[in-house]
Amino acid sequence: MSFSYPILPGGHLLAIEGLEPPHISALLELAESYALLNRSGKTQRDLLKGRTLINLFFEDSTRTRTSFELAGKRLGADVINMSVSQSSVNKGETLIDTASTLNAMHCDLLVVRHAQSGAPALLSQKVSACVINAGDGTHEHPTQALLDALTIRRRKGRLEGLTVAICGDVLHSRVARSNIHLLSAMNARVRIVGPPTLIPAEVARMGVEVHHDMRSGLEGADVVMMLRLQKERMVGGLVPSSREFFRFYGLDAEKLAWAKPDAIVMHPGPMNRGIEIDSAIADDPERSVIGEQVEMGVAVRMAVLDVLARELRRNA
Ligand code: NCD
Repeated sequence: MSFSYPILPGGHLLAIEGLEPPHISALLELAESYALLNRSGKTQRDLLKGRTLINLFFEDSTRTRTSFELAGKRLGADVINMSVSQSSVNKGETLIDTASTLNAMHCDLLVVRHAQSGAPALLSQKVSACVINAGDGTHEHPTQALLDALTIRRRKGRLEGLTVAICGDVLHSRVARSNIHLLSAMNARVRIVGPPTLIPAEVARMGVEVHHDMRSGLEGADVVMMLRLQKERMVGGLVPSSREFFRFYGLDAEKLAWAKPDAIVMHPGPMNRGIEIDSAIADDPERSVIGEQVEMGVAVRMAVLDVLARELRRNA
C-alpha cells in the first residue's frame, strides 16, 4: 500500500485529536490488511528489521503491552519491555533522564504508558525515536480508539451515521476521550452515558449527547461501549457501591434490549464482571465483540508501526 502524504504528521502518535479523517481512514485500511494477514498466519518480518522498539510502561498493562510486543515482533523489530518496577525510575530517575538513556540506546520506536497526562508528548520532544502513546493519565489512548473503530467497521461496514453509546466511568477514561475524537471526526453520533459524578464537564463541550439514564442513552444505539470503573483513579466516593452502580449502569440483558436488536457490545478490558458488565453479556458470542477488539489491537498496532517506520526511512 502506498500513501502520498504523511499519515502521522510529526512522526509520532500522541493523540487522536488533531488527526484528519483521511489519516484515520488510511490507518484503518492498512490495519484491515494486517488483520487479514494475521488471520492467514503469515508475517512480514523484514519491515522493521534492525529497528529497536522499546515498550516503556509506567503503569500496568496486559493486552496493550503484549499486543505492541507481538506487533513489533511480527514486523521483525527487536522488542524490549521496560516496566517501571525494573527500571531506574524507582530510584528517582526523571522522565527526561530516562529519555537520554533511551536516546543513547538508539531506540527507533518508543511505546509509552504513563499515569500523567502529557508524559508521552514531553518525551517526544526529548527523544529521537518515534513515540506512540499507549495511554497517558486520563488524556488519550489513541491505538485503543483505532482498534475499536476497526472492530466497529468490520461488524457494521462503516462508522458514519452510527449511534455509539459510551457508558460508565467517562471521567477517568482516556479510552472514552480518544473514542469521542475519532468517532466524531468520522461522523458517528456519540452518546455519553453515566452518573453525573462520572461525566466531566468538558465532555458536553466536545459536541456529544450526554445521558444520565441508560434507557435513553441506549435507545436505538448500534454500538454499546462499556468502560471499566477505574477505582484506582477515584478520589473520594464517586459511586455509592458496586452493587448500586450495576443496578443503574451495569450492562445486562434487560438494559441491552433498549439498544438496536443487532447492537454490538464492546469493552476495552480489563473488565469488572458484575460491576459494569454482566458475564452473560460479555461472553455472548452473538453480541459481544470483546475478543475481536483484542485481535484487532495487534493489527492496528502493526499498522501504526508500519506508518512510523516509513517516517523513519523518510528522515534517514
Ligand atoms: C484501558 C486503559 O488502560 O486505559 N485498558 C486498555 O488499554 N485495554 C482501559 C482501562 O484500564 O480500563
